[in-house]
Amino acid sequence: MYKAPRGTSDILPKEQAYWKYVEEKAVSLCQLYGYQPLSTPIFEDSQLFTRTVAGGTDIVDKEMYTFTDRGGQKLALRAEGTAPVCRAYLEHGLFNSPQPVRLYYFGPAFRYERPQAGRHRQHHQFGFEALGDADPAIDAEVIEMAQQFFLSLGLSQFSIQLNSIGCKLCQPKYVEALKQHYSAYVARLCPDCKTRLARNPLRLLDCKKASCQKIAEIAPKITDYLCHECQAHFQSAQGYLKLLGIPFQLNYRLVRGLDYYTRTVFEVEPQEEGAQSALGGGGRYDNLIEALGGKPTPAVGFAAGIERLILNLKRQNLTIPPLPAPVAFIAYLGKEAKMEAVKLSSQLRKASIAVMQAIGDKSLKAQLRQANVFGTSYTIIIGKAEIESRTVIFRDMRSGEQKSIPQTEIVTTLKQTQPLG
Ligand code: HAM
Repeated sequence: MYKAPRGTSDILPKEQAYWKYVEEKAVSLCQLYGYQPLSTPIFEDSQLFTRTVAGGTDIVDKEMYTFTDRGGQKLALRAEGTAPVCRAYLEHGLFNSPQPVRLYYFGPAFRYERPQAGRHRQHHQFGFEALGDADPAIDAEVIEMAQQFFLSLGLSQFSIQLNSIGCKLCQPKYVEALKQHYSAYVARLCPDCKTRLARNPLRLLDCKKASCQKIAEIAPKITDYLCHECQAHFQSAQGYLKLLGIPFQLNYRLVRGLDYYTRTVFEVEPQEEGAQSALGGGGRYDNLIEALGGKPTPAVGFAAGIERLILNLKRQNLTIPPLPAPVAFIAYLGKEAKMEAVKLSSQLRKASIAVMQAIGDKSLKAQLRQANVFGTSYTIIIGKAEIESRTVIFRDMRSGEQKSIPQTEIVTTLKQTQPLG
């Protein structure tokens, strides 16, 4: 028996209502803020990620799905959505449109992680990016969108963690101070942090091991090292958040798992804490587009993990609108009636009435049982007597009441009825 590969899931029909709900909320949010949809391929040149997310991060060092295609090109399954959006921005000359260009996307991302609740090898992201402007007001817009997205879903138990990680000028000085601090504790560091100290010191602050966290708690704070411009940007972004009444918590240890960030970084954390628990994360990446060969282009964005959102919707017992069921089930008794049922189903669908037709030679009882399972509001029953009198039996599945109506009245009757809510 084949199974879905480890860390991937089939999204069964009973789960789809959650996905549709999340996607609908996401699309209305983006429309409200003037963001336009963009779809990018599921695989890209692997260097797109190695150059931007960068070596020294788990995503690039341990988690990318890379392969060489039959033409010898080295490709990678999409590891995240931001670098592909920037690639598309450059490739299609979107820098010629009025800036910032506001875009959003949905799609799977692939990371070879150790699967557990809320952590998958194929997960799905909803993200949005504003490319081409350095104004801190757009940082606040993106953070507000993230907040409004979670609120619109009905999730209220989350916090917004905020930090600034500086720029090319001030970050190196901080990294140097961090290295010095950690060098005094090398013997106490976990093996991963020993590597981080050499390859990516900022990530030291993010280690979840208790012994390393103690060292992080007494580490120098990045905000004490920000240059004047970064400090002013951070203050201004916070000013806008306060103006908008968006609650946030300053978190000097928030560094994010991708290397392209500059200045503002933020994460949305659910109240129920746990490793790898962020519902979403984002921030500014003012050097990314330049690293891909474009002109210096400031940008900011955010992405949420849909599986984690759905996990939280379930944990909070939120009621999700069900997917609409067909309004009627068409049942029949006998071969002749089956012919009538097939014809009637087709006619109703052509009149834009969603119906599900019985199949096979089941008893009427079995057919009604099916109609119940499918959740149709009505069942239309055709037997020999109905063919002769050119009528059908119209059964209300909620009350169990049934009446005989002329065939000519089926469409109007169904159009007048309300499907079960
Ligand atoms: P990220 O924090 O790596 O950021 O991923 C965004 C969100 O995707 C996470 O907060 C989490 O909810 C979800 N996620 C990540 N990995 C997994 C996984 N293995 N299983 C389930 N869910 C996962 C980015 O990818 C950036 N591109 C976000 C961004 C957009 N920054 C600026 N613009």
